[in-house]
Amino acid sequence: MAAPIRKIAKPLAQNLTSDLDLPVEALQHVLDLAGQIKRTPSRFTKALSGRYLSLLFEKPSLRTRLTFELAIKQLGGDSVSHAGLIGEREPVKDVARNLERWTQCIVARVFSQETIDQLAQWSSVPVINALSDLYHPCQALADVQTLREHFGHLEGRKVAYVGDGNNVAHSLMLTATRLGMHVAVATPNGYEPNAGIAAQAAQLGTVTVTNSTAEALEGADAVYTDVWTSMGQEAESSERQRAFAPYQVNAALFAQAKPDAIFMHCLPAKRGQEVDDAMMESPRAAVFDQAENRLHAQKALLVMLLG
Ligand code: CP
Ligand code: NVA
Repeated sequence: MAAPIRKIAKPLAQNLTSDLDLPVEALQHVLDLAGQIKRTPSRFTKALSGRYLSLLFEKPSLRTRLTFELAIKQLGGDSVSHAGLIGEREPVKDVARNLERWTQCIVARVFSQETIDQLAQWSSVPVINALSDLYHPCQALADVQTLREHFGHLEGRKVAYVGDGNNVAHSLMLTATRLGMHVAVATPNGYEPNAGIAAQAAQLGTVTVTNSTAEALEGADAVYTDVWTSMGQEAESSERQRAFAPYQVNAALFAQAKPDAIFMHCLPAKRGQEVDDAMMESPRAAVFDQAENRLHAQKALLVMLLG
């Protein structure tokens, strides 16, 4: 019989503006709940009946948008969505005070973290960061769920992130470290993670930031990469392709990790740039498990924040 869901006396978290809004206890709770929801989704079909999400997208999305829509519907609620720049037609603080009157949660994908922070400041309902320039915390939840499913306890395991020191790298550093993982990030010179976020992560756990892929991959249980050119950086694409060329994850690079390592990517992937086709199609690739877990992890997050 499935274990009973633990009742929470007071909310473990109110928002997910960045990874650190979830204390370790809340992070563990979301992961446990995500596992239960994945195993027995039928137990949760009314968990959020009558609740509505506002989905705001300043940038394109396949996974994040569809998994939030599916998540709230499968929990008995529904969503409304809006695409376009937030704060262009009216101030962000006014947008927040409209949405809180109609819906029980705001999920936003934005260019600037400042927009997320303002939405959270001005809204009385939970705000979830669905990707900003600095963080992608919903991705990190699905990533650690995937790692936990694959390896069991994460304490002492190592994930090597190879490529751009971007939003996905930041969230992995802030989340996986707190579950006891060593996060090693290898980037070209000049593309290191944000120094403040790296310092924060180093206070929370074991972090290496290096320009050497060999150093990052040594003893790694998982090798993670993301696009070299994030949304909004398209003008830098050619320059980035030159700088990042030695950082492509392919069989030769992957062979430097442990023999039973898995390959991870948040997707969408640019085959021929940060990863080659053979690596994407390899049996070591866990990329579609990560994509699947976006749904389960976000259902758990919504139940925790709104339940
Ligand atoms: N990984 C991820 O966030 O994918 P989308 O950009 O398609 O939402
Ligand atoms: N770093 C990428 C992640 C996409 C899911 C971007 O910001 O475009």
